[in-house]
Amino acid sequence: MKNSKITVIGSINMDLVTSTNRVPILGETVMGEAFHTIPGGKGANQAVAAARLGAETTMIGCVGNDLFGQDLLKHLKSQGINVANVKPVTHSSTGIASITLSNGDNQIIVIPGANYQVTPDVVASFEEVIATSDILLLQLEIPLESVEKAAELAVKHQVKVILNPAPIQPLPKGLLEKVNYLTPNEYEQQLLFDSIEWTVEERQEMLKKCIITRGSKGITFYQDEKVEIPSFKVDVVDTTGAGDSFNGGFAYSISQGASLEDACRFATAVAALSVTKLGAQSGMPTLEEVQAFLQTQGEE
Ligand code: RIB
Repeated sequence: MKNSKITVIGSINMDLVTSTNRVPILGETVMGEAFHTIPGGKGANQAVAAARLGAETTMIGCVGNDLFGQDLLKHLKSQGINVANVKPVTHSSTGIASITLSNGDNQIIVIPGANYQVTPDVVASFEEVIATSDILLLQLEIPLESVEKAAELAVKHQVKVILNPAPIQPLPKGLLEKVNYLTPNEYEQQLLFDSIEWTVEERQEMLKKCIITRGSKGITFYQDEKVEIPSFKVDVVDTTGAGDSFNGGFAYSISQGASLEDACRFATAVAALSVTKLGAQSGMPTLEEVQAFLQTQGEE
């Protein structure tokens, strides 16, 4: 097993998770089932997924100087993630996500707070960390200019970039060109492709970078032809963070030199195991757990 150095630049949130049998309509009150505060944030989730698999993982982000911030930093450290570069900021509170779980699905509202203090200057101050990584993993819960800066530095140092374009927003072509792999879900991919004017060649090039996650329908990507990787059947408890688990698993597997097809299959197993427990990170597996799971599926 080669040492994988993965750097994640992104969000760190506390997830405020309400489980309810019925989601209220506007103006209505309903009685829910349970409430939990659970570590989350797309950046932090992806870092935890990579670290559990054994990657040497560094997180760059911001939390507030508050209890959530302290808890989240302690938690990330306990997962073996290098958070020496995550400094609490005084003028914003830690990001939160208000999550409603109902009937096996979720709705999420993110209040970014301190995540928006991850400015391009903050990113630039970690050029050395980016330069010495195998993979840079990015999402869209920090300012877009910071994501662009990070991708620019990665290209400068020939570091592979994976961009998980979530939550989706219109993205500049210049950013997409710097990325090696884009990991949208079907909805995000559609919006991304519709929001930009492409020539036929550009569209084809971009599609080749896309690893499209389709939930229980599996993964689709296009090389010379369309490749479909099926998902695994598991007992679903909570799908929050399934995409993040996929991204962490995908980054790990690519950094180990796996083919695109093998990396997708591996990451699909990571995501499948992650949804069997409550919370974005609780179900994220170790490498041994993924290997054991793949064996039960007759895959290894
Ligand atoms: O992808 C799931 C994550 O999205 C949650 O953990 C929440 O914090 C939001 O960022």
